[in-house]
Amino acid sequence: MREIELAVNGRRRKIAVGDDELLLDVLRREFGTTSVREGCGVGACGACTVLVSGRSVSSCLARAARYDGAEVSTADGLPKDDDVVEEFVAAGAVQCGYCIPGFVMMTHELLGENPQPSEQEIGQHLEGNICRCGTYEEIRTAIGCAAKRRQVERKTA
Ligand code: FES
Ligand code: FES
Repeated sequence: MREIELAVNGRRRKIAVGDDELLLDVLRREFGTTSVREGCGVGACGACTVLVSGRSVSSCLARAARYDGAEVSTADGLPKDDDVVEEFVAAGAVQCGYCIPGFVMMTHELLGENPQPSEQEIGQHLEGNICRCGTYEEIRTAIGCAAKRRQVERKTA
């Protein structure tokens, strides 16, 4: 065991973690971030995606001990009126919802880096995320709408 400090959705705490303990498990146990889900457990599905300083990380592959001092964002830390979440709901990109937090966090990363992604860029960015319900079309629509919404907001700001 060792002590590390994590800031999760703005809440900073010192916690004890096992040497090999996964970030996924620590986030769920210590911070109650139940939007962070294990799908495959081997880095192949994207359901466990969180952002560390704005960059996506598969928390099922990440050893928590390596993230001492990190700033972590998860889907359940997003505001109630989060634009990406609202567009996912509006587009019906939810179905069972198990994979959606990972897609939402990947979308935040994408739009942070590339405010006007093409269809192809959206597809490429989300290549590592799997939705067993197959709502890919709705997800792509939601991401396109979120990008447009931000462009309109920027123009009117
Ligand atoms: S649970 Fe981490 S990538 Fe599938
Ligand atoms: S919405 Fe069910 S797995 Fe994606």
